[in-house]
Amino acid sequence: MTEDSFQRTDDRFRNLSSVRPTPDFDSPFDRAGTGSSKWARADAPGAPGVIPMGLADMDLPGPPAIADALRQRARHRAYGYTVCDPAGRSLVADWYRARHGVEVDPDWVLLLPCGPRTALRILLETVRPEPGRPEPARPAPGRPEAARPEPARPQAPVLFPAPEWGGFAQLCRAARLDYRELPLPIGPDGYRLPDGPLPGPASAVLLSSPHNPSARVWPADGLRTLAARAAEAGALLVSDEVHGDLTHPGHVHPVAVTTADPAHRHLVVTLNSVGKTFNCSGIPSSFALVPDPGLRARFADALAGYGLWEGGLLEQTVQQAALREGGPWLDALLVHLATARTRLTALLGPAVRSAPQASYLLWLDAAALGLPPQDARRALLERCGLEASDGAEFGPGGRGSLRLNYALPGSVLTTVLERLERLDLP
Ligand SMILES: Cc1ncc(COP(=O)(O)O)c(C=O)c1O
Repeated sequence: MTEDSFQRTDDRFRNLSSVRPTPDFDSPFDRAGTGSSKWARADAPGAPGVIPMGLADMDLPGPPAIADALRQRARHRAYGYTVCDPAGRSLVADWYRARHGVEVDPDWVLLLPCGPRTALRILLETVRPEPGRPEPARPAPGRPEAARPEPARPQAPVLFPAPEWGGFAQLCRAARLDYRELPLPIGPDGYRLPDGPLPGPASAVLLSSPHNPSARVWPADGLRTLAARAAEAGALLVSDEVHGDLTHPGHVHPVAVTTADPAHRHLVVTLNSVGKTFNCSGIPSSFALVPDPGLRARFADALAGYGLWEGGLLEQTVQQAALREGGPWLDALLVHLATARTRLTALLGPAVRSAPQASYLLWLDAAALGLPPQDARRALLERCGLEASDGAEFGPGGRGSLRLNYALPGSVLTTVLERLERLDLP
């Protein structure tokens, strides 16, 4: 039997209902009337025709499997409280094996009915000083030093490399946690992870991996070193990998919990979500890989304090459909994104601060585009009708930069390229 006839024989056994048409990522995708916050933000009165390239979601149709699963589930009018289907954990483990070639223990997985931002905020509570710990003691007049109760150590700061997507600083402020931004070194090819010892005590290290805003895929050895540095300081490393499944062909995303030395794994958490990968962040969901059972239990307790339990109805419906059937859609998406990236980087050249390797984000040097660094977002809007994110939102290291989201239909991207020609390109 030739390989070709084997292929055809095998085809007879395929379930034809699961054959999907090739996704159309070239034709315009009309989001009018869907309440899109990305479009609402860009649709400023008096600025018709603006193309929103700020907020991080895609102007591309999501996987049909998610639509089918929601339709199917909605048909049964049982919408009461739901429990967690343990099959969901195995689906996550299967996903990591198939997409990343790594073994994730299904027991590590927490399936969460909230978005990654909420999950991260609540996870940060688990690194706070334990409630009931004594306040720092004041010496009682005349009492010997040794008789004082041991003073509680003040909470060590949360550290994260910056520029970063803005969420880490926002969440730390909301949680009233002290934080410190570590400037990311930049070389000719883009950002590098800091590899020296941490600059002081830390309760947690947060990392966006791949990096938002620059779309850099961190190398595995750099990540391993960072996990070791965090462990030396007794700090938790939280790797926010919501862009990890959007790694472009030719690059390999290191999953933190399986990349860290096994001796440090108990202090590492990977956070991910089908929301970014499959463009369904309007239905909040996420999952966390937490190898340490004690931390997992504390995290689950903290979530329960907010009325969040594993196994939400919509979250499970969407997550399972995406992980079970979304692979081919994602493969097609990645080809589309990599093509769009090449078209843009060819035009923008050295204005691109760090070579993008994942996701749909471009991190640009405003001055190299001939835009005033302090007011680049407005200038781009006025000159090109393109709405970008202002680099200042990404921390002090982001001033003078712009972040462009190019997850657009091919036809719209052509318009974007034409409009960018109006700038003084390098
Ligand atoms: C790296 C990263 N982490 C977390 C989030 C937060 O996602 P959500 O707002 O859906 O919780 C985002 C959103 O853009 C992100 O880019």
